[in-house]
Amino acid sequence: MKSINIGLIGFGTVGSGVVKILSEKKSFLMQKVSVDIKIKRICDKQMQIKRDVRVDRSIFTHDAKDILNDPQIDIVVELIGGRHPAKEYISEALRRGKHVVTANKALLAEDGQELFALANDRSKNIYFEASVGAGIPIIKSLREGLVANRFSKIFGILNGTSNFILSKMSKDCCDFSKALKEAQLKGFAERDPSLDVEGIDSAHKLILLTYLCFGRFVKMEDVFIEGISRISLLDISYAKELGFQIKLLGIANKKDRELEVRVHPTLIPHEHLLSSVDGVFNAIYISSDLAGDLIFYGPGAGQLSAASAVVADLVDLTRDIQAGLFRSTFNIVLDKTVQGLRRHDNFKSRYYIRFMGMDKPGVLARISGILAKFNISIASVSQKERRRAQAVPIVMVIHEAREKDLRSALELIDKMDVIKEKTVAIRMEEL
Ligand code: HSE
Repeated sequence: MKSINIGLIGFGTVGSGVVKILSEKKSFLMQKVSVDIKIKRICDKQMQIKRDVRVDRSIFTHDAKDILNDPQIDIVVELIGGRHPAKEYISEALRRGKHVVTANKALLAEDGQELFALANDRSKNIYFEASVGAGIPIIKSLREGLVANRFSKIFGILNGTSNFILSKMSKDCCDFSKALKEAQLKGFAERDPSLDVEGIDSAHKLILLTYLCFGRFVKMEDVFIEGISRISLLDISYAKELGFQIKLLGIANKKDRELEVRVHPTLIPHEHLLSSVDGVFNAIYISSDLAGDLIFYGPGAGQLSAASAVVADLVDLTRDIQAGLFRSTFNIVLDKTVQGLRRHDNFKSRYYIRFMGMDKPGVLARISGILAKFNISIASVSQKERRRAQAVPIVMVIHEAREKDLRSALELIDKMDVIKEKTVAIRMEEL
């Protein structure tokens, strides 16, 4: 029986999951591909750490060159994360005629265009199923199952950590820091959680999905990004009273020949499926012209879930290598109906707004006067407490307004002496 040799760079949680699957499911996978997918070498800086998988130590190395320079290695699996040296390892692997499998969304979102071009040039592939939604086969579905479709919108809950925190705040009525601590204790959130909670990780994943759906590689600086660290329990509770859950969404939406690419907290009506996606689960909605509206749902993180996607990529590549085929996965077609990216100032949305205004006559009139100046129309308003001559929450829902107009209005409102805290504004998406 033939074998395909794998070099694994990064023997952390997902890396050991890959080794575990390839060893425990060896005969199961062999029945599917008739090839032995064999880990020939494993590179990691910290080999002394105990892992829950047994490996012959003779295949361990501290030096990635032992993998990159080995002519018998067919596929390099990069699971170290981060931009450098992952970029250099992947580039070198491609130059040396190896295919690459990676889960590195941060690297691909920043340097994907360059790396994909290099791969194509060398007639090699970079597979990256585990980079979005862990084991949810969203990338393969977009590339293969939905190949005949054009897309008008893709949006979803792309970050499990943020979703865990928001769900916890909503269910247990706790504040952001308590929910974050719990996420850290459970091992979902990093010690520095900013990539997850500030929307960066969602933006990386959204860039990859936008590329697959619309053929455009959007730069990080062109994605509108707002995280969840300023979401308070107060807003979660008021949103609930209004019939909404707050979720961090990544959205790529084609509107009037322009593409909006944004990540931000969003009020979602209770009756919408996404509002009940809780914990570390992810869910991705796609609007397509032939297959219609689709939803992909499942755990967005986890050792075996992410490793399942890596192994699926390995099997795909193995089949191609075995058949002596090069099926370029970079035949992404530019959606020419999209003329460009919409400027953030021109985004339009309904909003939930919470002012902290003094409880005295005339305050609401002054707020609504400023909103009117910017052509912003109020849908509903309610004052949440009664505290004579003290600041109280005033919750407002406004009809669709332009981002720039709302920002300008809030800037003026926040300067008023009767407004005691920075006003909170959270988008309400037409889903
Ligand atoms: N940190 C990510 C999340 C999982 O919380 O969703 C890996 O993509």
